Amino acid sequence: MKIGFFDSGLGGLTVLKEAIKNEKLKGEIYYLGDNKNTPYGIKNKDFVKMVVEDNIKTLVEYGCNPIVIACNTATSLCIKSLREKYKDIIFIGTEPAVKVAADAYTHKKILVLATSITVKQEKLLNLIDKLGISDCVELVAADKLVKFAEDVNCSNLKKEIYNYIEKLLSKYDLKKFSHIVLGCTHFPLFYDEFKYIINKLYPNCDNINIVDGAKGISNNLIKNIKNVDKTYDNLKDLRVHIIMTKPSEEFKIRTKQILDLPKIDIEYKLQ
Ligand code: DGL
Repeated sequence: MKIGFFDSGLGGLTVLKEAIKNEKLKGEIYYLGDNKNTPYGIKNKDFVKMVVEDNIKTLVEYGCNPIVIACNTATSLCIKSLREKYKDIIFIGTEPAVKVAADAYTHKKILVLATSITVKQEKLLNLIDKLGISDCVELVAADKLVKFAEDVNCSNLKKEIYNYIEKLLSKYDLKKFSHIVLGCTHFPLFYDEFKYIINKLYPNCDNINIVDGAKGISNNLIKNIKNVDKTYDNLKDLRVHIIMTKPSEEFKIRTKQILDLPKIDIEYKLQ
């Protein structure tokens, strides 16, 4: 079984890691990170659509099915047209986990952080509307976190990352919020930094839950796989192939840092 994962860069690894560690994902994994064109969230939408189509074609040619679009930005722009184009392929999309926040609704507000494209797309606005939470949601673009996450020297950028998150969060009275939704797959890489800043701004404030979609997507993926492949439970092996769209030693280092799965061999390929 060949399972595709796709993101603009390294963010989708947060989803892949969740699927491997907590859902015991097996099979041949092809993770395509578009390191040549990252970040997507601040680029022209037509350009992003074009490169996403191109990258998904690569995963289809490798024989992947299902394919996880482990990118909120690409999902919001392209999932409909991809499903129309490739009728035999199961696409698992990613959208900000606002439903998790809505289900736990406590009359407090919900802060949704995502890329500039995602926060403006109809897909997210419709979802918020459908859940009936439009009045309590604040949408914020936090594109710079994608750049930090992609940087191989990310661990040396702590000060800049803290400053950026503090600047974002200090605009809101967090006592009035119950959830911060990390609506970009890169953002969970900064979970600890968010916790730190919330604690700095509001010591002992424990009413804020930080949520992301990785668990929901992984569950959905495994459910879908088991529906189409009754022999899946017998699979023993996991092999991870990472496809880059431009050669980069930094990208390889960073994928290993993020996945942090020393026992699993990763094979790198160029698109
Ligand atoms: N990781 C992506 C997302 O979930 C895209 C970030 C970007 O390339 O701007 O939206």
